Amino acid sequence: MTNIPEWTMHDGYKIPVTGLGTYTLKGEQGVESMTAAIKNGYRLFDSAIRYDNEGTLGEAVKRSGISRDDLFLTSKLRAQYYDYDRALEMIQESLYRANLSYWDLYLLHWPNPKQDQYVEAWKALITAQEKGWVRSIGVCNFMPEHLERLEKETGVKPVINQIELHPYFSQKEQREYNKQHEILTEAWSPLERAGSVLNDETLQNIANQHNKSVGQVVLRWIYQLDTISLPRSSNTHRQRENLELFDFELSDEEIEKINGLTREDGRIADQDPREYEEF
Ligand SMILES: NC(=O)c1ccc[n+]([C@@H]2O[C@H](COP(=O)([O-])OP(=O)(O)OC[C@H]3O[C@@H](n4cnc5c(N)ncnc54)[C@H](OP(=O)(O)O)[C@@H]3O)[C@@H](O)[C@H]2O)c1
Repeated sequence: MTNIPEWTMHDGYKIPVTGLGTYTLKGEQGVESMTAAIKNGYRLFDSAIRYDNEGTLGEAVKRSGISRDDLFLTSKLRAQYYDYDRALEMIQESLYRANLSYWDLYLLHWPNPKQDQYVEAWKALITAQEKGWVRSIGVCNFMPEHLERLEKETGVKPVINQIELHPYFSQKEQREYNKQHEILTEAWSPLERAGSVLNDETLQNIANQHNKSVGQVVLRWIYQLDTISLPRSSNTHRQRENLELFDFELSDEEIEKINGLTREDGRIADQDPREYEEF
């Protein structure tokens, strides 16, 4: 079983450098996928209220036989609950659903700038942290202007910013901004949701050089960008494959080649956080 390295967040807690994405994993099949992942060595799990699978994750934790404290469990607040009081209720509800006494990490799912409630929701996450319901707090899909407002209006900086990141949308500026502000970047849809990245010729050539799969090269590239990856797989073979990242290294030249694949319009579904809203 692979031993997954960890990085330290600016609040002092540690986080594994890769974990399982759980979007669409739910019900009995979802529990089976997640328990398989725990057996395969995954410790970080990325769920969300919006995925309707916090109960699935809680059930997998219960069945796994692993101590809850050895896992790193994440959920996210959806924007329809960004009212301060509603947010606090929903974070508690989220704990009840997963049968947990705390979440390791709780994130705001989208900034939804037109809704303009993310600062209020952030204040609720700060309160939830003070109450011990969540250990670390962070955000997803935040751009510099959103992050600046959080710090200016609350004095509290997120530990994590989870953003869309894969070879066709490599987010250089946002990654650099996060790093300058001691915010760790997490990559969502790192495999471009099994899109054309997996058939990219440049990536295939690099993979051949290392006797690895394209998926492994992509996940290794993300690791070498000091970014956490959250690949999702319901398949136990691919779950294991996606953890075998620590026995090879990409050269600077290979990293640059992969960086060169990024495109202005590379987002999977054109979800620009300045415009896109999700509730
Ligand atoms: N914060 C946000 O706004 C946000 C948005 C989107 C996603 N996320 C998070 O990020 C996670 C990952 O993103 P995602 O689920 O959209 O997509 P993804 O992880 O990029 O891709 C998942 C797809 O890739 C396939 N796959 C996995 N490993 C593979 C491999 N080694 N070779 C070939 N195919 C492989 C999976 O199929 P099999 O299951 O058949 O292996 C699945 O169809 C989500 O699950 C969620 O936790 C967050």
